Amino acid sequence: MQKSLVSRNLLALLALGFCALGMVGCGGNSNSDPDTVTNASVSTPPPGPDDTPIVEQAIFNNAVGFPVVREPGPRLSTTDEAIEITEADFMRGLPTAVIQVPDGLDTATNQAPFFEGLENIEVVAGQILEVVFKPRDAEGELPGMFPEKLPQGGTFDDNFDGSKTFRFQPLQNDVGFLKFTVTALDPVNPQYRTSQSVLIKITLPTDLSTIPNVAPMLDDVIAHTVRVNDPVVFELKGIDLNGTVPRLEVPNLPVGGSLVQDPRFDEIYVLKFTPDTIGVFSIDILARDSVDPALTSTTAISVTVLSELGFQREGEPLRSLAQNRDVQIGFAALQSFYHRPDGAIYAATAAREYDIVTPENSMKMDYLNPAPGRYQFAATDNLVAFAKLHDMTIHAHPLVWYRQLPAWILNSAVATRETHMTDYIDRVMGRYAQDMSIWDVVNEPMADNGTLRDSIWLESMGAEYIDKALLKARSMSADATLLINEFDIGFAGAKFSGLMQLVDELQVRDVPLDGVGFQLHLFSSFNQFDDLRANFAEVAARDIDIYITELDVSLTEGATTARQAEVYAQVVAICLEQARCKAIQTWGLTDQYSFRSIFDPLLFDRAYQAKPAYGAVQNRLAIFGN
Ligand code: G3I
Repeated sequence: MQKSLVSRNLLALLALGFCALGMVGCGGNSNSDPDTVTNASVSTPPPGPDDTPIVEQAIFNNAVGFPVVREPGPRLSTTDEAIEITEADFMRGLPTAVIQVPDGLDTATNQAPFFEGLENIEVVAGQILEVVFKPRDAEGELPGMFPEKLPQGGTFDDNFDGSKTFRFQPLQNDVGFLKFTVTALDPVNPQYRTSQSVLIKITLPTDLSTIPNVAPMLDDVIAHTVRVNDPVVFELKGIDLNGTVPRLEVPNLPVGGSLVQDPRFDEIYVLKFTPDTIGVFSIDILARDSVDPALTSTTAISVTVLSELGFQREGEPLRSLAQNRDVQIGFAALQSFYHRPDGAIYAATAAREYDIVTPENSMKMDYLNPAPGRYQFAATDNLVAFAKLHDMTIHAHPLVWYRQLPAWILNSAVATRETHMTDYIDRVMGRYAQDMSIWDVVNEPMADNGTLRDSIWLESMGAEYIDKALLKARSMSADATLLINEFDIGFAGAKFSGLMQLVDELQVRDVPLDGVGFQLHLFSSFNQFDDLRANFAEVAARDIDIYITELDVSLTEGATTARQAEVYAQVVAICLEQARCKAIQTWGLTDQYSFRSIFDPLLFDRAYQAKPAYGAVQNRLAIFGN
């Protein structure tokens, strides 16, 4: 680690010097430069009465056994809106192409592909826009190409001469600036590619009647598998590209079902029903235009209903087997799973199998504290209620992280950040310390090279931000388990070594730390099991615990679920061998909602069927002795 104890002191002296000059952010109360903001004046406001969740009507969710609460007001925007394109950007001309050059490629003998004759375009809503993309390559071959993202209703049509035409009819919803990007692939090496954007300025016509009134649509709904006699809720969103809010209707409402408009979001309607027969069911949803009621569209949504037997599994639940081995086994919970069609079987599967749970997203700062003094506690409160109902330990995640930070923190003055960090820990642990016994106090502090990752926290407090976060967390709870949680430390390397050096330095300074979270986002090709065992031993040698916090095993190209199962089994075995290994949590429950769902990384498939990996974990937990 570059910032050793000695050089850190030097850094601290330098920082104090700059701080006195008001040149850098200063942790702690500075009393020299009147322009330096003092901590007292920047304290983060505590939650107000508007942040107290209210009980949600049961018609909007499928929770079983606990009352769901929701935010009292509209959802607060959590992060800076996407970087807006401005008139100045548009007038500046075609954006510069972005060229990706793969390692080892000689650009002197192979020039990057490029596009002929493109320029920024201005169009009036209602007009049909056509832009021809002609990729060229100096070596003569025709490059391939693909669009980065098509706007709703846009098409990218092949002209069968090497060029393609982007066709799009912007409507009221599209007024403003649109950035459309196409990437061309070098004919020799497709990793050598040029991404070219075109800026499109869309304005309203003077005569609005020239804009066609198009039929409203239903936002995409993915297929779900549910259990017979479980309540099912679909959050249905109507979309009207003319910028109005369509009305949703269900001509053939399931018996006993309901369709109710969300009291906070006009475009959302919640369909709730309880299927009492098994089979695949299709339900027509009609979207009706709010200007011309005769203008409608119908979309069929599908749900597969299985019997109770369809979800039964052989053998003991994982949580019982794990308990016999003095470890806990759990998962990261999908935020607001009780608002998903399969929320009931999701909850039932989790309750049967797991005794420790982490909120996947609801405790991230940009969601939890999107504005000074504003908090969105409902989703986390609901998870606490669910965990208590099923006697699950709650693993809080995360307190201090470099990602998912709200705009008001990202834009805060450097000198105010220590106060904001410690206040945030105060507010969140103040509400949840009684319910949550394990805390990822600092998440992902390490860079790949073993130094501390740059972040707004490091910028404002130096390496001591970690000390301060852990000390503040300890002051909020004398017996909480305080962790540093990290990824890519399951094998030998600079990152793990740097983390161990950090742990050593924290221990020298008597900073409270109870353990290390190994995230273990693995691929099925992982085979560094000896390294993992050795790294666990290194942590244990420091007399602190090991938590496997975010385990998933993504299937690489051609890999089998048997190989995936073997990796899971090996990781469980290594945990069981190590007395200091306290818990094994997968990062999600079902492939349906995994952040890496395209790699099918978890123990349950999209229909909540146990995969070979589930059986492998069950067997490994059941084997006593080695
Ligand atoms: O909730 C908003 C929704 O309102 C909005 O419409 C939508 C589209 O913008 O975004 C939704 O928020 C997304 C959130 O997941 C909930 O789905 C964020 O954009 C998206 O960035 C966020 O991704 C999460 C990611 O952390 C970043 O927070 C993943 O689900 C989550 O699995 C992942 O988990 C992290 C751990 O916290 C730390 N370790 C690594 C792990 C994987 O990256």
